Amino acid sequence: MTAAHGGRSDSPTGRHPAERRVLRRAFGTFATGVTVVTVGGEQPHGMTANSFTSVSLDPPLVLVCVDKSTVMHTCLDAAPVFGISVLAAGHAEVARYFADSRRPVGPGEFTGIAAVPGERTGAPMIADALAWFECELWRRYDGGDHTIVVGRLLSYTQPATDQALLFHNGRLGTTGPDREVPT
Ligand SMILES: Cc1cc2nc3c(=O)[nH]c(=O)nc-3n(C[C@H](O)[C@H](O)[C@H](O)COP(=O)(O)O)c2cc1C
Repeated sequence: MTAAHGGRSDSPTGRHPAERRVLRRAFGTFATGVTVVTVGGEQPHGMTANSFTSVSLDPPLVLVCVDKSTVMHTCLDAAPVFGISVLAAGHAEVARYFADSRRPVGPGEFTGIAAVPGERTGAPMIADALAWFECELWRRYDGGDHTIVVGRLLSYTQPATDQALLFHNGRLGTTGPDREVPT
């Protein structure tokens, strides 16, 4: 066994702020891509999410874990459909914007953001994303302080080919051919 580098807990509860910080850091060691989850309608809304996971090919399912305290959580309670845009390397500002609680809410939220309405859902889909997934709500599962939202694909598209935007140890980065590990 190697020595623990960061925090260590044999009985984590996730309740205390200091423990939450350490736990968040441990979770953050798992490198992910970055998406923006969106809902359309009169009050379109978007939220940066790295908890996106593909779940099933048949039926085609994806999931995203949504914090119960977010505006997006309330939006998804009401919206039967939603969109997920997989961000490209050039989308760091977009990722920061849709994670920033000071951004405007309502129609103004997408002012200055290059996005097009999804053909099946009307949810704003981020321009030049690596992939667009338009979903209908399939199941919701309780996930502690998050809800695990599983969507069934209505459509998918790969609008652009580029390096991916990554999230690792609390920082945004990108993939690159020079980082490939020989197999
Ligand atoms: C890279 C990154 C990934 C994130 N992933 C998630 C996620 O998967 N689920 C989530 O609920 N919040 C996630 N967040 C936090 C939300 O984006 C942030 O709390 C946002 O302001 C919530 O928006 P809303 O309350 O306006 O809906 C992430 C933030 C960042 C920067």
